[in-house]
Amino acid sequence: MKELKAKIEELRKRFDKASARVKDEKSLQEVRNVYMSRKRGDLKLLFEELKALKPGEKSEAGQMFNRLKSHIQEKLESLREEISVPESTLRKFDLTFPGKKSYFGAPHPVVLFQQEVEEIFIAMGFCIEDGPEIETDYYNFEALNFPPHHPARDDWDTLYLTGDLLLRTHTSPVQIRVMEKRKPPIRIIMPGKVYRRETPDPTHLPMFYQVEGLVVDQGITFAHLKGTLEYFLKNLFYEKIKIRFRPSFFPFTEPSAEVDIECSVCEGKNEGCRVCGGSGWIEILGSGMVDPQVLKNVSIDPEKYSGFAFGLGIDRTAMFAYKIPDMRFFYENDLRFIRQFSLK
Ligand code: FA5
Repeated sequence: MKELKAKIEELRKRFDKASARVKDEKSLQEVRNVYMSRKRGDLKLLFEELKALKPGEKSEAGQMFNRLKSHIQEKLESLREEISVPESTLRKFDLTFPGKKSYFGAPHPVVLFQQEVEEIFIAMGFCIEDGPEIETDYYNFEALNFPPHHPARDDWDTLYLTGDLLLRTHTSPVQIRVMEKRKPPIRIIMPGKVYRRETPDPTHLPMFYQVEGLVVDQGITFAHLKGTLEYFLKNLFYEKIKIRFRPSFFPFTEPSAEVDIECSVCEGKNEGCRVCGGSGWIEILGSGMVDPQVLKNVSIDPEKYSGFAFGLGIDRTAMFAYKIPDMRFFYENDLRFIRQFSLK
């Protein structure tokens, strides 16, 4: 009897050691074979010895044996759960399940529109240039004829960073950067983001896109400016679109003009139109002949060369091309709105 008790104890220790080394299905099966095999497993052999005990001794040893048997069974079961593959990954592939819809990224509608603008100018022989969004006071204002403290700066107020750095209010500083590096003939467009101190409304945003245009050469006149912009707008919209040139002021062009197109949202018929106020016209760009002083600032001789420049609001123009009544829709990130454009 004593001997059997010691054997039960010894088997428990041996089993605990062996089960601690189990790491996969194979090693688990090996341990199961050694201890639980119905024919020659160690537990079965011990049971044979138990049966041979006298009736008085059987009860106590039997209880010890049963405790060991349960211990082994529970441990083997918990090991099986630990190392077996999770049920979810074993689930069969069901062809009748609805598929997962995947979405692909697409260019933003304003970017798509910018590309349309670029294509028209490239076809006219223009090149594309780029400039920084963080500018210095000199490029954003001074080189463009805005002296310090000049009241004209108020219309182009922006967010100021440290030192004389600021977020550019228009793409016009890129004109200066390019003319400093290159001499005429110049025929370029310069698209990009600009920033202003502005309260958002249907036609104004504090961050928006512009595309600047610049042509400098000998003999450039206002007729070139008008012809280029008319050709561009008729290509961008349609042949019969109504365009008007309105005298205006910019410190860096002389003479200057703003260009309006007919309001495509109400076609000028709705007095309460939030977009054009019922006037039927919407301003989309500023333009003019490059001021001789600006040419002097970049060491280009204004006696020999002349040029024209313009700055078009991309978001504002896209809004009319797509007949969207509020420019803020572009930036609300409502996918129901945005996806309508990527389906084109
Ligand atoms: C300018 O920014 C001048 N730099 C344009 C220019 C370039 C004139 C070269 C002469 C020569 P203006 O502030 O008017 O001008 O802006 C030009 C266009 O940008 C506007 O006609 C409009 O289409 C767009 N725009 C202006 N402010 C906003 C705004 N807050 N939100 C959205 N679009 C705007």
